[in-house]
Amino acid sequence: MEVAASAGGGDAKTPDSVIAKHCNACHGTGLLGAPKIGDAAAWGERSKKEGGVDGLLAKAISGINAMPPKGTCADCSDADLKGAIEKMSGLK
Ligand code: HEC
Repeated sequence: MEVAASAGGGDAKTPDSVIAKHCNACHGTGLLGAPKIGDAAAWGERSKKEGGVDGLLAKAISGINAMPPKGTCADCSDADLKGAIEKMSGLK
C-alpha cells in the first residue's frame, strides 16, 4: 500500500493518499472544528466565503487558525492540496 514519497514535486501523490496521510486526522472527525470530509454544506459555505476552491486552497497553503500550513503535508504541491480539497469537499 505505502508508496515511498518521491523527492518533492513528483506526481506520486493522489488525493486519496494525501487525505489518508495528512488531512483525515482532523477532517475525518471534524477535530478542532475542521469541516468534515463529505460535509458538502460546511465546505460549500467556506467556499462561498473564500471565493471558491482556489480561495480555500490559498488558506490551506497558509494555514488558518487551528489548520496548520499545508495541512501538515509539507511536500505537497498546490495541485496535490487542491486535489485533496476537491475530494474532501465534493467541490470542483
Ligand atoms: C491538525 C488538524 C488539521 C489537519 C491535519 C488538516 N486540517 Fe484543514 N482544517 C483544520 C481546521 C481546524 C480547520 C478550520 C479552521 C478554521 O476555520 O478555524 C481546517 C480548514 C481547512 C480548510 C478550509 C479553509 C477555509 O478557508 O475555510 C481547507 C481547505 C483545509 N482545511 C484543507 C486541508 C487539507 C487539504 C489538509 C490535508 C493536506 C488538511 N486541511 C489537514 C484542521 C486540520
